[in-house]
Amino acid sequence: MKQTRQSRLKRDISSEWFHALVESALDGIVIMDDKGRILDVNPAAEKIFGYISEDVIGYTVSEKFIPLSKHRTYKDGLTAFLTTEGKKNIDCRVEITAMRADQSEFPAELEVISISPETSKIFIAYIRDISKQKQAEQDRLQYAMNIKKTLLQTILAVSRTVEIRDPYTAGHQRRVAHLAANIARDLDLSEERIEGIFLGALIHDIGKIAVPSEILSRPGELSPEDIGYLKVHSQKGYEILEPVNFPWPVAEIALQHHEHLDGSGYPQGLRGDEILLDAQIVSVADIVESLTAHRPYRPAYPLNEVLAFINKNVDRLYDRDIVKTCVQLFKKGYHIDAIDMDELSWLASLME
Ligand SMILES: [Fe+2]
Repeated sequence: MKQTRQSRLKRDISSEWFHALVESALDGIVIMDDKGRILDVNPAAEKIFGYISEDVIGYTVSEKFIPLSKHRTYKDGLTAFLTTEGKKNIDCRVEITAMRADQSEFPAELEVISISPETSKIFIAYIRDISKQKQAEQDRLQYAMNIKKTLLQTILAVSRTVEIRDPYTAGHQRRVAHLAANIARDLDLSEERIEGIFLGALIHDIGKIAVPSEILSRPGELSPEDIGYLKVHSQKGYEILEPVNFPWPVAEIALQHHEHLDGSGYPQGLRGDEILLDAQIVSVADIVESLTAHRPYRPAYPLNEVLAFINKNVDRLYDRDIVKTCVQLFKKGYHIDAIDMDELSWLASLME
């Protein structure tokens, strides 16, 4: 007798608890049957959807809360839920597109649970309007994109500064950057690494700013002394870029882009794996671009001769895979003059 009274009391209390929880919840709560018919909604759901409960009770969730274009997706989701008796969907939040009374759509988070899958066909859907979070996320992405775009534009400006002092190599860094990024892409490097190689290549000769302009603009062969001056540009480039906290090894690319696998390069005479892969890629792109371009003291070399030159120096000066990838790129029809800044998808997103 005592036990019956206790369990009735407990049932009454839990029913009151349930009611209080539903009424005061900040999340929208929609109670529905196994056909998706709305049995009740709490005040938060009324506010989210812009209805009063009398407007929606007896209608289906899709009729009132789901845009027509999403009915199929919603129906499939509900069927999946009902066939698994909700067990697999417990604690599973999904993002949906919901619809308000005024037909406006908004992103929402939805979680459906079954009160008692064995005995009852009543389901509770928790709905949260996440428009503000989505907007904030969008704003953050846009902000990051703008910063990245500004960074690219700044690097391009710096790149031009070097080329103004070195008129014979105008556009050299841009063409090297494009070729190096294409090689990196064909080597299946990550998007982030390709970005670093592109940006590093774009300013790999920045140290030339420390080379007297009469040496840079002097037509004819350079004297050994001039070449000595010119060689300091790798080290100077490193010194200029090293204090900048780039997320890529931009300073190292400038420092190492004249190193060779056999240690015959400069300024450090690094060998093999001591040279960063990123710098090795820029090094191959650099030599190919330089030799195929016209200089006041020599004509441009034909592309096939330049490719033969890098092939001949595989394993001695240049990495085998990089050279192979570079040669294949040209065989596929790549043109070194064809600077299409939108070609790489990541760059296209920067240029939006
Ligand atoms: Fe250089």
